[in-house]
Parts: sequence; structure tokens; C-alpha cells
Amino acid sequence: MPQKYLSIQDAMQQGSGTVSIRGWVHRERGSNKLKFVVLRDSSNTIQCVFERSNFEKEWDDIDHLQVETSITMTGEIKKDARAPSGYEVQVKKFEIIGKSENYPISKDLSPEFLLDNRHLWLRSTRMQAILKIRSTIFAAIHEYFRSVGFYEYHSPIFQAVQAEGGSTLFHVDYFGKKDVFLAQTWQLYAEPAIFSLEKIYTISPSFRAERSKTSRHLTEYWHAEMEMAWSTFKEIQDQGESLIKHVMKKVLENHEKDLKVLERDPAKLLPTVKKPFVRMTYTDALKVLKDKCKIRVQWGKDLRTIEEEELTKLYDVPVIVTHYPKKVKAFYMVEDPKNPEVVEGCDFLAPESHGEIIGGSQREHDLEKLKARLVEQGEDPKNYEFYLDTRRYGSVPHGGFGLGVERIIKWICGLDNIKDAIPFPRTMERYKP
Ligand code: 4AD
Repeated sequence: MPQKYLSIQDAMQQGSGTVSIRGWVHRERGSNKLKFVVLRDSSNTIQCVFERSNFEKEWDDIDHLQVETSITMTGEIKKDARAPSGYEVQVKKFEIIGKSENYPISKDLSPEFLLDNRHLWLRSTRMQAILKIRSTIFAAIHEYFRSVGFYEYHSPIFQAVQAEGGSTLFHVDYFGKKDVFLAQTWQLYAEPAIFSLEKIYTISPSFRAERSKTSRHLTEYWHAEMEMAWSTFKEIQDQGESLIKHVMKKVLENHEKDLKVLERDPAKLLPTVKKPFVRMTYTDALKVLKDKCKIRVQWGKDLRTIEEEELTKLYDVPVIVTHYPKKVKAFYMVEDPKNPEVVEGCDFLAPESHGEIIGGSQREHDLEKLKARLVEQGEDPKNYEFYLDTRRYGSVPHGGFGLGVERIIKWICGLDNIKDAIPFPRTMERYKP
């Protein structure tokens, strides 16, 4: 019968008796008589002790065990207060599965070195904690949307129209054709589908040729987007708030240990679950910035990072800023019926200076206005005919938003840089390994 292996976590749960476990050598130290190996798997780490008297023949192999060697073993597990995770295994039998060379990752290496060796750094306790939280966040997004009646729907990655500005388009050489780009958003291919499914969502990669070297921009990021028919602008904001609350709740319920590894205080995240988000118009945000932060922003200018940061420092929950000036927002956002200078668009700004996590809006559903906005923004409406058809055949009020998944991971995990929120980050300067 094949050997039944327990995860290290389950072995510790068992707590006594014989267990078989497998994993990688995380740390090792020893003497002539004893070897201590901290074994790591995806669930935890545990100290394992090899006594020379039991392994005289294999001692040379044991003595030369290198960090990251993969190994299986059977032994007696018991509580031991001196061991790092409170348990220890006295090894009775073992097999080296894959030897390890001199592992290049050690303490205090520069962020650039760790990025060059990302394929190995993924094994670190820190990346393991982030990747586990990332996995929960993806699951929570799917759970949330399905629980409120949304269908999962997919739009193409090769696209022939832009939605978020030409300056961040990645052009693709598509069999010699030059008017093909990688998706910045699913939106223009999602809106046609609400006439079929009404409420839809996706989690998919988006691409932005961002020339800015900031701690929150990737060129390839995962984008959770939703679109719904018959919505009001308030409903779009409510959905965004409920989604973030659900994601945060799931992380807090399941990742106490991982947040500790990341030295992230859960108390800082709890208000997002418990308290309503702050909502204010762009115009009110300028007043708050002037009165409370002594920052003057001229009406009509988009908020800069520094202004968003100062604003969000005032609150312990996300701030939803609404009704931006029409000029600074995308062509598809609907004018506010009470004031055509502003649009029903919203940005969700995360606390603690983590910046914009959601951008969304109610959509312009009037065909002529939409065409005029396209022209104003230098686009040829002819290229958007398929999209404009959505306004020709039974147009309805509708809206949606996009959540930057790495942005919310950065915030929840308290990361200095968004690069750590994704396994293999892509930025203007980094596309390897
Ligand atoms: O505000 P954005 O550009 O909105 C859209 O793309 C809409 N079409 C979404 C929609 O309504 N369906 O982008 C949405 C979110 C931002 O709030 C931010 O969280 C994230 O995407 N984002 C980025 N994340 C990482 N790196 C980048 N370069 C990002 N650009 C946007």
C-alpha cells in the first residue's frame, strides 16, 4: 500500500504517535551526534531530529543535508516546548527525494535580488503567507458574486478598442495588423452581455502600458470586474462596498497566522468589515482636503496620489469619492442628471495610503452623447460600432466597476510594493523571470 502522508499541520493536530510527512528542508543545524532539521510544507514547519545512533550508515547524507532538499520521513511526533512550532518528530526512517545545491536565498538580500530569483523566493515564509491570502481573496470574489446572483462571463484579451485611454495600450502585432491591443478592461465586451445575462462578473488579467514607476502599478494585473443591467449609481457603490467587506471578512477569518507572518495588525482591517465606508463627492473631497489637510486642489483637476493619501489618512475605512469632473474620467461614464459637469463615477480609496482599489461608474446609455464623448476624446466612433449597438437595441441604465486584485492584496497584507502581491510581477522594467 502506498505510504499515507500527513501535512505537517495535520501531523501536529494528531500530536502523538507515528506520522509520515514530507517537505523541504527549511533550516538545519547539528553536531556529530544529532541533526535538527526544520521541515517545511505548504501547511507549516516542524522540527525533526535525526540521531546518529539510528542512522550510522546514512549519517554522511544526513550531515550534508542542504536547505531545500526534498525529503520524506516517518517518525514519532511529540509536543516539545523548545521546538519552534511546539512539536518535534524523532525520525525513524527517511528518504531523500531531491538533493539541493547551495541555495542562493538567505537573509537580508536586496529586493532586486529576490525579484531576480522570484522562482525561488516564492518558497519563503513571507511569499507563502501572501500567496495563501491571495488564494482566499480570489475565492472570496467568486463566492461573493455568485452569492448575489451574478454569472461568470469572459471577454477577449485581444481587443480592437480602448476604454481607459490610448496612452496605456499594449499594441500587439496580430498577423501584421496593428490595431489590436491587450485588454485594459473587459468592459466594452462585457456591456453587450448584460442584455443576455443581466448581472455578470469576471476575474481576468488586464494590461496597462504604465510608464510610471510607482509602488502600485503593474503592467499585467488581475482585474475583478462586474457589470449589471438596471443598476443605479448607488447600487454600484453598494456592491463594491459589500464585495470588499466580504473579502476582508474571509481573510480575517482564515489568515490570522499569515497576517502575523506579515506583521499586519488585523485590528487595522476590522473597521472595514464593521463600519460603513465613507462616501463623499469629489467637490466635498476638495473641501475636506482644504480644511483638514491644508491642501488646495483646483476644481477640475484629478486627485493626485498625494492628495488621495492625505484624504484616506483621515479614516480607518475606504473612502468612496464620487461625481468627478467629466473631463478627468472615461468617455463611458454617464453625466450626473443634476450637473452635467460631473459624472456618476466613483473611486474607492483604501486606507493607510494604499490608493485606489476600485474604479466604477454608471454608464452613459444615450447613443448620441456617447458618440460625442468618443469624438471629444479623439476616438473614431466607427471603431466602436459593436459597442454602440448596445445603445441601439433596448438600452437600459447600467453600470459596473473594476477591482484591482493586487491592489487589495497590497492593502490587506500591508505590502510596501504591489510587486509582492503577484507571483511574477510585470512592470515597465521587469518582465523576467
Ligand atoms: O479605474 P480603472 O481604470 O477602471 C476600469 O478599468 C473600468 N473599466 C472598470 C470597470 O468599470 N469595469 O481600473 C480599475 C481598477 C483600479 O481601481 C485599480 O484598482 C486597478 O484596476 N488598476 C491597476 N492595478 C494594478 N496596476 C495597474 N497598472 C492598474 N491600473 C488599474
